[in-house]
Amino acid sequence: MALSFEVRRRRRFAVALVALCFSIVASALTFVSVISGASAQSVRPPEGATSSTPPSRSAAPVGTPAAGAPVGVIERTTDASVWRDIRKGKTFTVSIPDKKAALLVQSEGDGWRAFRNGPLKTYGVYALGGVLVLLLLFFVVRGRIRVDSGMSGVTITRFNGLERFGHWLLAVSFIVLAITGLNVSYGRYFLPDLIGKDAFASLTIMGKWVHNNVAWAFMLGLALVFLMWVAHNIPSRTDLKWLAKGGGLFSKGVHPDSRKFNAGQKLIFWSTILLGASLSASGVALLFPFETAMMSKTFSMLNIFGFGLPTDLTPVREMQLQSLWHSIVALAMIVIIVAHIYIGSLGMQGAFAAMGSGEVDRNWAKEHHNLWVAEEDEKARRSGASHGVATPAE
Ligand code: HEM
Repeated sequence: MALSFEVRRRRRFAVALVALCFSIVASALTFVSVISGASAQSVRPPEGATSSTPPSRSAAPVGTPAAGAPVGVIERTTDASVWRDIRKGKTFTVSIPDKKAALLVQSEGDGWRAFRNGPLKTYGVYALGGVLVLLLLFFVVRGRIRVDSGMSGVTITRFNGLERFGHWLLAVSFIVLAITGLNVSYGRYFLPDLIGKDAFASLTIMGKWVHNNVAWAFMLGLALVFLMWVAHNIPSRTDLKWLAKGGGLFSKGVHPDSRKFNAGQKLIFWSTILLGASLSASGVALLFPFETAMMSKTFSMLNIFGFGLPTDLTPVREMQLQSLWHSIVALAMIVIIVAHIYIGSLGMQGAFAAMGSGEVDRNWAKEHHNLWVAEEDEKARRSGASHGVATPAE
């Protein structure tokens, strides 16, 4: 028993020794083959390898070394025309799915950034500051526009619940979008100093998320307002007379005729709808980058009138123009809406109630929308209902 155990132990030792020898020999052979293989491969390109200079129309055929250059040495000559083409935004051919990679340098990006950080921001500040100064002047000179005949204490329904819901959905979402959008454009110039860089970064990231999502509420509000009020906003001859009298805004006791919406309100309505629709379209284009060609399509249409605008825009150029357009339209709309908010609240006695409770004083209504009050009274008389014609005692 003891003998057989000793024999087995020796056999195991012999097998292990042979295996060790094999592995040493194998490792040595592998090492030698790697070394010899490596020394056989040069880090230099093989003879006739392509030059490192991109091919060009004017360049010699690919792989031709420069005159006098030793064969097998990477050619280091540059080709100005190729780089000029690249600098001007020439696209090359790529085999990867992302065809945008075919454009190496997009020089127009410099112009985009310069315009965005320069004139656009400067004129934006002038426009926003300008409207605030004008409203302040108007308030100082004209004061709050009051109901000349005094409040009657009798009300008439101006806007129902759905109309007010649509208005406030549009209004609140627009104000949120305006604040978060202005933060992206102007926040960096003063907020980091006020609240600190980290807080500003967190605020802006949150603001971007809010901006991208609240946009849908704005579009819904815009669609509602359009559907509810478009019929009341068709321009008419009454509007010209209203405009000729400056809407009575600049003098006491002047109250030009008006139906449900006067000419000034129609201008606000159509500005909101048209600018709001354009803002939405460019916003959606920015939310889904490189999916649309809105600018080139718009330019093609404008070219019918002989504008001669470029229509073969690269996807990157599309995005740049869409972002500029989005900012320009947003600034224009903010300026207009600031004036609207002033006149719908502080600037005119009795106006806010129209969007607050939906009920306005009859005297306010008769002074600002006399033809509309007459129409409502006529409707009420026909249906036999009393519609704001009651006395306060009743
Ligand atoms: C705090 C902000 C706002 C206030 C106090 C306000 C107030 C008002 C009031 C009182 C009216 C009804 C006027 C009437 O009875 O004839 C009105 C109408 C209207 N509002 Fe606003 N609004 C505000 C924000 C906005 C915003 C942000 C928008 C659009 C983005 C907007 C768009 C409109 C439109 C299109 C009308 C109908 C046309 C007109 O009356 O001018 N409003 N608003």
